[in-house]
Amino acid sequence: MDYVDQRVAQLASAVHTSTTALFTPLNAVILSALLYAAYAFLLRASPHPITLPREQPAVVFTTFTPRTLLPYNGENNMPVYLAVRGRVFNVTPGRNFYGPGGPYANFAGRDASRGLACSSFDEDMLTKDLDGPLDTLSDLGPAELDTLRGWEERFEDKYLVVGRLVAAGEEREEDWKGIGN
Ligand code: HEM
Repeated sequence: MDYVDQRVAQLASAVHTSTTALFTPLNAVILSALLYAAYAFLLRASPHPITLPREQPAVVFTTFTPRTLLPYNGENNMPVYLAVRGRVFNVTPGRNFYGPGGPYANFAGRDASRGLACSSFDEDMLTKDLDGPLDTLSDLGPAELDTLRGWEERFEDKYLVVGRLVAAGEEREEDWKGIGN
């Protein structure tokens, strides 16, 4: 072995000794601690802190008036409810129909009974006085009531009832007799 080979062998041996010397258990512990500290620091300094999605309001049986039903129109991340003959349906799964910009958004957060019965999107179909009496639908004919019944059946199959609609001032708990009353 000439001189150069000897030096290379010496160097390789030195590198090997020093690298194996680095991998001691103590160094492993120190390295883990350093990595953890760096990770914790980066997480804290992250420009995108972890935020949880805004919680949806819980779905509970409750009593609505035309006014308290109004915010449930799918805007501001709210669920979409509509009322048919005193029952409030959670139509959020049909957000494409009733949500903002949807073809039936006029019914969102409203008593949709008359509009559905008369197949009309007219503003006149919706309760104007939110603090007044509910629409009794007493002037509707059998054909319109039949149409409405059809919609109700569809909604019963498809959506959950989350409450009932009463006129303002009639929200007393003891009035609640259950679904369909
Ligand atoms: C030109 C007339 C109309 C056409 C072409 C039409 C078309 C449609 C279509 C294709 C759907 C989706 C059905 C599905 O995938 O389940 C739908 C749903 C619906 N339509 Fe119409 N529609 C019309 C008129 C009306 C009118 C006049 C009303 C009531 C005022 C109405 C109320 C609804 C409602 C409430 C839904 C959603 C039902 C659900 O939540 O599943 N539509 N319509």
